[in-house]
Amino acid sequence: MAIKLDGKALAEKMRAQIREETESLARRPTLAVILVGENPASQVYVRNKEKDCVECGILSQSYRLPAQTSEAQLLELIDVLNENDRVDGILVQLPLPEHISQEKVLHAIRPDKDVDAFHPFNVGKIVTGEQGFLPCTPAGVMALLREYEIDIAGKDCVVVGRSNIVGKPMALLLLRENGTVTICHSKTAHLSEVTARADILVSAVGKTGFITGDMVKEGAVVVDVAMNRDAEGKLCGDCVFDEVEKKASYITPVPGGVGPMTRLVLMQNTLAAANAHLQG
Ligand code: GUN
Repeated sequence: MAIKLDGKALAEKMRAQIREETESLARRPTLAVILVGENPASQVYVRNKEKDCVECGILSQSYRLPAQTSEAQLLELIDVLNENDRVDGILVQLPLPEHISQEKVLHAIRPDKDVDAFHPFNVGKIVTGEQGFLPCTPAGVMALLREYEIDIAGKDCVVVGRSNIVGKPMALLLLRENGTVTICHSKTAHLSEVTARADILVSAVGKTGFITGDMVKEGAVVVDVAMNRDAEGKLCGDCVFDEVEKKASYITPVPGGVGPMTRLVLMQNTLAAANAHLQG
């Protein structure tokens, strides 16, 4: 039976470390979070970020804007926050309403305040391996693997999903640690044969029951990034958990695995932004 990768416990440790550091700074770091519209999941995420900030000694400024906010109005707010020296990090919660260009908005955030690491300047640094903000979910996964001393070098790493938020940057961070990386997606042929070769399998699909026991190699490390709901409305990942945990050596639970790690990396990035701004 697989050992659970306890993201909740590691997040607690990280929170204490961040708090200690924020308390020693000349001023508190500040994170500005912008939510446009009333997407229920986004509302929960933003509330969680506010809570994380309080617990980490970070000041949060939330901007809850109506769904009909224009692209120009949103860009104007980003500009004001870009110019405000007290604001260290700016995060625009995704998805945005259809009439607003996500690309334009993400490009408008000043790279030194881009704590999501979504600006092409920061994405470029992830590709080349230069120091910069790390993408929250993939960096959270890496921290969890590090905590449990799971070796990546030379391992077959399979990432299912190719989103800009998770799949692509996840593959790059695994590559940086010398994993042999394969990215699978909706057009991948013989998906279960590919996943069954993985020593480290990361699933970021967003479909309940997608990863079944037969798709997993005996002894594999399985990281489930998804946040889905099952038929009873309970939070769950992509894995058929009872099947996969019987084959895996390690597995992330959902909830309590990757989710808390993602949240803490955002706090780490905000602290790093504040440190950079304080050193001016
Ligand atoms: N929506 C879902 N995941 C994310 C994320 O990591 N960052 C932002 N800004 N929005 C999201």
